[in-house]
Amino acid sequence: MVIDWTGLRAAAADAARRAYAPYSRLLVGAAGLTADGRVVTGCNVENASFGLTLCAECGLVSALHATASPEPSGAPRPSLVAVAVVAGDGDALLPCGRCRQLLLEAGGAALLVDTARGPVPLGELLPAAFDNADLSARREAG
Ligand code: THU
Repeated sequence: MVIDWTGLRAAAADAARRAYAPYSRLLVGAAGLTADGRVVTGCNVENASFGLTLCAECGLVSALHATASPEPSGAPRPSLVAVAVVAGDGDALLPCGRCRQLLLEAGGAALLVDTARGPVPLGELLPAAFDNADLSARREAG
């Protein structure tokens, strides 16, 4: 699949312009290309109760699921193949640790994440990750 990184970065910058970040004043936008060729976006949304802040990637992952066409139960969930996250200045911003974990579930270790040195697989940013395979392998029976 051809990835239009220029378009993804522009979509992320556009989302950053919609961010609600009156407390940190760090505007963040995220844009992702889905496996079925859609572009989904998110922006950070802060709250007077600082701990409730939603990162841009949270909105992105929610949009991934909320805008997918309904599939019969058992069909694979929608997934991401490429993600760009930018700050208000338009430059790449590395996803925080929590968002790397969220992105892992939405795109796997092969998901390409844009960085200042170009796209890298998420597995490089979140090595030795805990994922749903660990749950299946290690949970108690019953
Ligand atoms: N932020 C994101 O939106 N994504 C990240 O991966 C890092 C941080 C936001 C959260 C908060 O609104 C602001 O940046 C400062 O931490």
